Amino acid sequence: MRISMMMAMDTRNLIGKEGGMPWHISSDLQYFKRVTMGKPVIMGRVTYDSIGRPLPGRANIVVTRNNQWSVDGVRTAASLHEAYDVARTQSAEEMMVIGGASLCQAAMPDTERLYLTVIDHEFPDGDTWLDSFNWQDWTVTSVDKHDETADGGYRFAYYVLDRKS
Ligand SMILES: NC(=O)c1ccc[n+]([C@@H]2O[C@H](COP(=O)([O-])OP(=O)(O)OC[C@H]3O[C@@H](n4cnc5c(N)ncnc54)[C@H](OP(=O)(O)O)[C@@H]3O)[C@@H](O)[C@H]2O)c1
Repeated sequence: MRISMMMAMDTRNLIGKEGGMPWHISSDLQYFKRVTMGKPVIMGRVTYDSIGRPLPGRANIVVTRNNQWSVDGVRTAASLHEAYDVARTQSAEEMMVIGGASLCQAAMPDTERLYLTVIDHEFPDGDTWLDSFNWQDWTVTSVDKHDETADGGYRFAYYVLDRKS
């Protein structure tokens, strides 16, 4: 099963602000839903807390070092590799690592495909960055550019990136 990642960032790799997202772009949320539906999603505990509920139609796997942590409808894993093993029990062509920064840092070397939304803006406020991402490690398989001023007023692009061999 392919290990994939799906993230959205601004032009300076910003991904988070005060435990949530720095922007609200509803078409990106719909795209996230379309791509991840039916696939196991692996996330850090802080990202789960920011979502606040299991994502429907997907096996939710939360990585946490806290063995007391438990939520109905969510599978827990004590390490990233345990999360991969849980994901492999599902029937899907790929598993999706969906953040946040610390989990992506650990998962980036294993990630074969990256669905990356790049918002063409520098947000002034934020506290979490996708530092583990470097363009030179990736081949652009496809890019779909949007200029939807009705949706938050930001231009953004959906990249599908595959790791250079
Ligand atoms: N823009 C985007 O696409 C996007 C996507 C997702 C998240 N975000 C944002 O990113 C921010 C959260 O990122 P974050 O880096 O602070 O947190 P995070 O990666 O979501 O979660 C960190 C927590 O996950 C657990 N964890 C992470 N790596 C682990 C490992 N290798 N082994 C075991 N446990 C591990 C630990 O949980 P315990 O403390 O419970 O042990 C750790 O404290 C939020 O602002 C969120 O909104 C943005």
